[in-house]
Amino acid sequence: MTDTPIQSPAAADKDRVLIFDTTLRDGEQSPGATMTHAEKLEIAQLLDEMGVDIIEAGFPIASEGDFAAVSEIAKNARRSVICGLARANYKDIDRCWEAIRHARAPRIHTFIGTSPLHRDITKLTQDEMVTRIHDTVTHARNLCDNVQWSPMDAIRTERDYLCRVVETAIKAGATTINIPDTVGYTLPTESGEIIAMLLERVPGADEVIFATHCHNDLGMATANSLAAVSAGARQIECTINGLGERAGNTALEEVVMALKVRRDLMPYRTGIDTTKIMGLSRRVAQVSGFPVQFNKAIVGKNAFLHESGIHQDGVLKNVETFEIMRPADIGLTETNIAMGKHSGRAALRAKLHDLGFELAENQLNDVFVRFKALADRKKEIYDEDLVALMADQAANTSTDFLQVKWLRVICGTEGQAAEIRMMVDGVEQSAETSGDGPVDAAFKAVRAIYPHEARLQLYQVHAVTEGTDAQATVSVRMEEDGRIVTGSASDTDTILASVKAYVGALNRLRVRREKTAPDADVKGVSYLSAS
Ligand code: KIV
Ligand code: ZN
Repeated sequence: MTDTPIQSPAAADKDRVLIFDTTLRDGEQSPGATMTHAEKLEIAQLLDEMGVDIIEAGFPIASEGDFAAVSEIAKNARRSVICGLARANYKDIDRCWEAIRHARAPRIHTFIGTSPLHRDITKLTQDEMVTRIHDTVTHARNLCDNVQWSPMDAIRTERDYLCRVVETAIKAGATTINIPDTVGYTLPTESGEIIAMLLERVPGADEVIFATHCHNDLGMATANSLAAVSAGARQIECTINGLGERAGNTALEEVVMALKVRRDLMPYRTGIDTTKIMGLSRRVAQVSGFPVQFNKAIVGKNAFLHESGIHQDGVLKNVETFEIMRPADIGLTETNIAMGKHSGRAALRAKLHDLGFELAENQLNDVFVRFKALADRKKEIYDEDLVALMADQAANTSTDFLQVKWLRVICGTEGQAAEIRMMVDGVEQSAETSGDGPVDAAFKAVRAIYPHEARLQLYQVHAVTEGTDAQATVSVRMEEDGRIVTGSASDTDTILASVKAYVGALNRLRVRREKTAPDADVKGVSYLSAS
C-alpha cells in the first residue's frame, strides 16, 4: 500500500490500478441514500484508511451541506486524493476548488454529456461543446494540477467525436480521462474496445490515466470495469456495496477482490487493504439505509455460507473446495460465539473489533449500555445482533431533531391504540391515537405530534436471528415531493423498532429538505448551468 497519494500519471506504474471511490458522490446520489455530515466524514476516513487512492467526496456546488462535507473531508484526509465534482462551467469549478483546495492532494473532476442525447439537451453543437470543454478544463487546470475530465454518456457518443473531445481535454490539461457508461449500457467487449481505441487514436493518450466508470443497469458493471482495465484503463471508479443510482455503480469490493483472486489472469495491484472491506460495507449499509442483499458477491450475508451437505463436507476437508477466498481476506471473522449479559466491556470491544467496528471510548460506553439493555431481554447475543445494534446506534442518535422517549401500544381483539411521548427539537410532546393495527396506531401518533406529508412507500420487518426473542430490524422508505429517505431500527419489540425507523426516516427527511439544491440536477437539463 502506498503512503503518498498517486497524483500524476507518471507516478503510477503500469500494473497499478487506482481505486477511485465515489460512494459519497454517485452513491449518495441514489434516491434515499442521503448521509449526514458526520456520516460522510466517517466514511471518508474509513476509505482513506482502507487505501482508496481517490475519494470523490461530493458535488460542492450542489448545496451548502455538500460544500461543507467536501471541505472538511479535504482538510482531514491523510493519504487519499480528494476530488470534487463540477459541471462544465466556471462557477461550479471555482466552487469545487474552494472546497478541495486545502486537501493534501486535491483533484477537480469536471464533466459534460457528449452523446447526441446530451448535446440535444444542452443545445450545443459539436464545435461549441469542444470550445466549452477546452475552456473549462483549462480553467480547472489553472487552479489545480490534478484535473479529471469525463464525457458523460461516453459509451453512446459517436466514436470519432469521443476521440475529438478526449483529445481536447488532454490538450487543455486534463490528467485523468474518465470514460463513463452512465446508463449501464455497455458489455465487456465494447468497454475494452473503447479504451483500446482511445489509447490508440488519441494523441497524448499515453500521457494521462484512463478511468472506467460503469453503472450496473445490465448487471455488467464489474465485468465492464475489468475489461476496461485489461484494455489499458488504470483507474476504476466504484462505490462500496455498489451503491448508486438505479442499479448502482461498480462495487469496489467486487473489482478489488477479483483483481486479488485472479492475479493469474489480471496481473494488476490495487492499494486496498482488503481486510477493511467488510467493516466499510456494513457501515455504508447502515448510514445509507440500503441493506446488502443476502447473496451479494463478497459482502452478502451468504457469501461464505455453505448450507448443502456436499459443500459443508467439502469445505471441512479442504476449504478451497468451495471457497475461492478466505473470509478473513475481507475482514470477516469466522466465529459466531454468543455473548450474554455477563460479557464485559473488554469482550464487547474485542468482538466489535472482529466485526470491523473501531470505537472511541465514549462510543463504546454508549454501545455497552445498549448491549446490556439488550442482554437483559435476550439470552444470547449473536454477531448479527451486534451488527444490528451498531446500525441502530448509528441511525438513531441522541442529537436527532425527533426522538422517541416513551411508547405504549395496546393491541389485540379489543382494538389498537398508541400513546407516545417524543422530543421535537428539544421540547417534549405527547399524543394518543387509535389505528388499524398497532403499527398504524403508533405511526398516527407520531404524525399527530409531527404533521407531515411524506408517504410511506415501504415497510419491511426482518428477524435478525432465530427464536421468538429475536430482534426485529424494521426498514421504512418514505417519499415527499420526490425526496426519498429511508430509516431503519432494531429492537426485540417490533412496534418500537417500527416507530424508531419511522422517526429516523423523518429525521433524514428534514436533513434532505435542508439540502437546498437548486443547481444540483446533475443529470437533468440544468447540468450546464451558468458559466
Ligand atoms: O455516470 C456518470 O456519467 C457520472 C459522471 C458525472 C462521471 O457519474
Ligand atoms: Zn455515475
